[in-house]
Amino acid sequence: MNRGPLLFLGLFVTMACSWLSFVLGPQLQIGSLGETNTVALANFMPEPYPLPTPGEAHQGAEIYRANGCVACHTEQVRPRVLGSDLDHGWGARRSLAEDYVFDQPVLLGDLRVGPDLANVGRRTYLKQILLRLYDPRIVAPGSIMPSYRYLFEKQRIGLAPSRNALTLPPALAPPPGAEIVPRPPALALAAYLLSLHQDGYLFEAPPPPPPPTNKPAMTNALAK
Ligand code: HEC
Repeated sequence: MNRGPLLFLGLFVTMACSWLSFVLGPQLQIGSLGETNTVALANFMPEPYPLPTPGEAHQGAEIYRANGCVACHTEQVRPRVLGSDLDHGWGARRSLAEDYVFDQPVLLGDLRVGPDLANVGRRTYLKQILLRLYDPRIVAPGSIMPSYRYLFEKQRIGLAPSRNALTLPPALAPPPGAEIVPRPPALALAAYLLSLHQDGYLFEAPPPPPPPTNKPAMTNALAK
C-alpha cells in the first residue's frame, strides 16, 4: 500500500506546528515591540526606553562578537524562580524582550563562565574596563578571562601622557618614556560595555520594592 501521501501530511503538519509555535507565535506576541515611554530606575525621570545604542558602542558590539566574549558572558538576567541572577546583583529586575528591541543581533549568550553583563554599564567605568581588557588579573587576581592586549598599543609619550594611558602595576609597566594606550577597537568595546543597562521601568517586571525605611522604628522609639 502506498503510504506516501499520509507520510507527507504527517511531516507537513509537524513542521507547520513547529513553525506556528516557534516563529509565528513569538512574532505575533513580541514582533511589534518598540520603544516604550518609561521611568529609568537610575534617576526616576520619564524617558523613552530602550534607546538605540550610540555609534561607537554599536561598533563595540561587533568587537564583542568578533572576540568571542559571548562564549563566556551572557546578557540576560533570569527571573528569581529560574536562578540566582538577581541575588548576584546582575540586575534590578529580570530581562524582557523589550530590552533587546534595538539589538541586531541579540547577544544573549548561553554559557556563563564569567558574570552576566546585561547591566555591566551600571557597575563599572572606563579605566577599569580598559585595564581588564589589557590584563584581567590586574583588576581580578586569579581571573581566567583571557587578555586582549592586541587591542592596545605601546607608544612614546608626547608632551604629556595620553588621557587614556593605562596605569599599570610595575611588573607590566612599559619602559620609561613609553605608555600603553587603547586602540580604537578597545575604546569602542568599552563604549559598548558602558552602554549595557537594562533598567527601564517596564510594566511586566516592576523593580523591587524600595528598601525599608527606619520610620516605624522611629515611631516606636517616640511612643516609648
Ligand atoms: C574564557 C572565558 C571568558 C572570555 C572569553 C571573556 N571573559 Fe570576561 N570574564 C570572565 C570571567 C571568569 C570573569 C569573572 C572574573 C573576573 O572578574 O575577571 C569575567 C569578568 C568580566 C567583566 C567584569 C564583570 C563585572 O561583573 O564587573 C567584564 C566587563 C568582562 N569580563 C568583559 C569581557 C569582554 C568584553 C570579553 C571579550 C573581549 C570577555 N569578557 C571575554 C571570563 C571570560
